[in-house]
Amino acid sequence: MAIITKLLFLCFLVFFFHHANAQNLALNFYRRTCPSVESIVNRTTASFISRAPSLAAALLRMHFHDCFVRGCDGSVLLNSTANNTAERDSIPNLSLRGFQVIDAVKTAVERSCPRTVSCADILALVARDAVSQIKGPFWQVPLGRRDGNVSISNEALTNLPPPFFNATQLVASFAAKGLDVKDLVVLSGGHTIGVSHCSSFTTRIYNFTGRNDADPTMDPNYVAALKARCPPTDTTTIVQMDPGSFDRFDTDYYTIVRKRRGLFESDAALLRNNVTNAYVQQHSSSSGSSSFFQDFAASMVKMGRIGVLTGTAGEIRRICSVAN
Ligand code: HEM
Repeated sequence: MAIITKLLFLCFLVFFFHHANAQNLALNFYRRTCPSVESIVNRTTASFISRAPSLAAALLRMHFHDCFVRGCDGSVLLNSTANNTAERDSIPNLSLRGFQVIDAVKTAVERSCPRTVSCADILALVARDAVSQIKGPFWQVPLGRRDGNVSISNEALTNLPPPFFNATQLVASFAAKGLDVKDLVVLSGGHTIGVSHCSSFTTRIYNFTGRNDADPTMDPNYVAALKARCPPTDTTTIVQMDPGSFDRFDTDYYTIVRKRRGLFESDAALLRNNVTNAYVQQHSSSSGSSSFFQDFAASMVKMGRIGVLTGTAGEIRRICSVAN
């Protein structure tokens, strides 16, 4: 009995500290230690996005890939070492772009506030600023994350949802991170910007069931257009996910999904679940983007709290790609 009581107490402590951590983030976390952090991040990010708006998509995706693997702890930024292959070198992360932006922002922040602001916080702020700089929503980012010093390639494979996931698998993948079905459909709206390599969807257009067929849930005209652009074994060509406005943050994604022109099975899957389907229908018919923008902001804040390290856990990295 005594053992059971002790075990229950231990479980309580683990649960309590886990939750206390996520709640320890604060909007004014650097008020005394680095009051100018947000303006430095914003200015440096803008210097990149103004020249290359397509980087906004890359930076948003990088934050997502950070948070889904070991929480938002900057582990996606770490380089592999002689005896460890890091997340950054796992298959889903080979198409990440924009590490140079994070490095430049970190250098600028270190100049004003040495060893104070974590790379995990910088990534969360850069993702927010990048989205808002291409006319997307703006949200306040709770801060105070600390950097992890562990990054394992295989964990990216097991934690990041692949493009061939169906609705049930996607819901489970998000639930495992404390995100609900609404977060899934809202955050998938991030695919209103950015590009994809053909290789992320060639099976879907060329060999869906192993019989040289295409996914019947995709608009056949779009299948034909994609085939014209993407030869079966192509590994380098990229396609805009929201053709024509891939660097403007808007509600087009939901129109695309409704028209059965989403690139991935994971996009098409949103029509298969009642909650996500209703959201797609509503946001593809309304011309206003404000409720999507509000929802996106709220879900990004929620995603940004996944598994964060706070207090004395982890470290404040000096260089984002290398543990101290
Ligand atoms: C729901 C599950 C998701 C799946 C299966 C998925 C899958 C993918 C894939 C396969 C690509 C293309 C990679 C390439 O071939 O270059 C991509 C791109 C992208 N994803 Fe997702 N994604 C998901 C959720 C998200 C979320 C939650 C966000 C952000 C909130 C996001 C933001 C992006 C962006 C912005 C790009 C374009 C990146 C660029 O232009 O470099 N995705 N995603």
